[in-house]
Amino acid sequence: MSTTNGMSDRGKVAIVGSGLIGTCWAALFASAGYPVCLYDIGEEQLANSRKNVKNSLMKLEEDGLSRGSSTAEEALSRITSTTSLAEALQGAVYVQESTMESVEFKQKIFAEMDSLASPTTILASSTSTIPASSFTEGLKHRCRCLVVHPVNPPLYLTLTELVPAPWTEPSVVDRAYEIMQSIGQTPIRLQKEVLGFAVNRLQYALLAESWRLVKDGVLSVEDVDKVMSEGLGPRYAFYGPFGVVHLNAAGVRDYCTRYATGIRRVLADAGETPTFEEPEVIRELEDSLQKLLPVERMADHSAERAQKLAELAKLKRKLKMD
Ligand SMILES: NC(=O)c1ccc[n+]([C@@H]2O[C@H](COP(=O)([O-])OP(=O)(O)OC[C@H]3O[C@@H](n4cnc5c(N)ncnc54)[C@H](O)[C@@H]3O)[C@@H](O)[C@H]2O)c1
Repeated sequence: MSTTNGMSDRGKVAIVGSGLIGTCWAALFASAGYPVCLYDIGEEQLANSRKNVKNSLMKLEEDGLSRGSSTAEEALSRITSTTSLAEALQGAVYVQESTMESVEFKQKIFAEMDSLASPTTILASSTSTIPASSFTEGLKHRCRCLVVHPVNPPLYLTLTELVPAPWTEPSVVDRAYEIMQSIGQTPIRLQKEVLGFAVNRLQYALLAESWRLVKDGVLSVEDVDKVMSEGLGPRYAFYGPFGVVHLNAAGVRDYCTRYATGIRRVLADAGETPTFEEPEVIRELEDSLQKLLPVERMADHSAERAQKLAELAKLKRKLKMD
């Protein structure tokens, strides 16, 4: 698949499971010039998915966020669909499994894919939480399996975590990395499997402290969210925790010299890990969030969030080009 200039060829990609994430993957790969075959269990699901892929491609084009030089129509013409897994995998160089989040189900579908795919096909899973070692161990081609985890909505958030199992060949991770770059994603590579991968380890650390601040009566739910949306969040959109501390002093060494003792003192003051089941905290969170983002209108809120993230993606793309 690799060419001499290090870019990947546009070999066939199979998307196994065409729900929310599968359809985003299909749009991204097709937008970047890959022939894509969508697989799902029924024609009804596929008809719905094709509509969603079309909408995503048109939206990418409208926002100037296409991942290649093709029009939405051209990208759409690269997408086929099937209810036969064998047909989807036939000739595929890369498979992005995006079915249900259950270890038993991943074991079953990966066993099927392993028996049908060519020995050189990369088998990637979109799973958010299940390490590849728990569903690929007994497979003949387990060295070609890994987790390739996007962040929702992948059309506008480009981060993709690559998480190998202990037996994944490093060259397979290299290729998956290159393929993600070729579709405009921003891959990161975990050197070993850890629970929660990177995104959820960081997200949960923040959630735990947010929870404690509400539980201990320090901050209201609204004010915790403001700390992020009006303070830390915008900075993190451009610099991560390391870039931020480096810029907050005369470099990271100076930051650590000046603040290490204080950081340790604050962290030692943090309470225990919440259970995330404390009824009084859940009630407080619900009362507050329900006023702001009522669950009855969740689809509208998700669409609004996607639009805001699209605007941020446009800005980031513009800043990179300037
Ligand atoms: N939703 C998110 O925010 C998000 C983010 C990152 C990763 N993920 C991961 O992506 C994967 C898919 O999540 P989703 O939100 O798209 O789920 P989804 O429920 O929207 O889609 C799952 C799809 O799998 C299909 N399916 C069911 N049985 C199947 C079978 N036997 N063979 C093939 N397809 C089958 C369903 O018809 C459906 O189209 C999960 O592993 C999830 O953890 C989800």
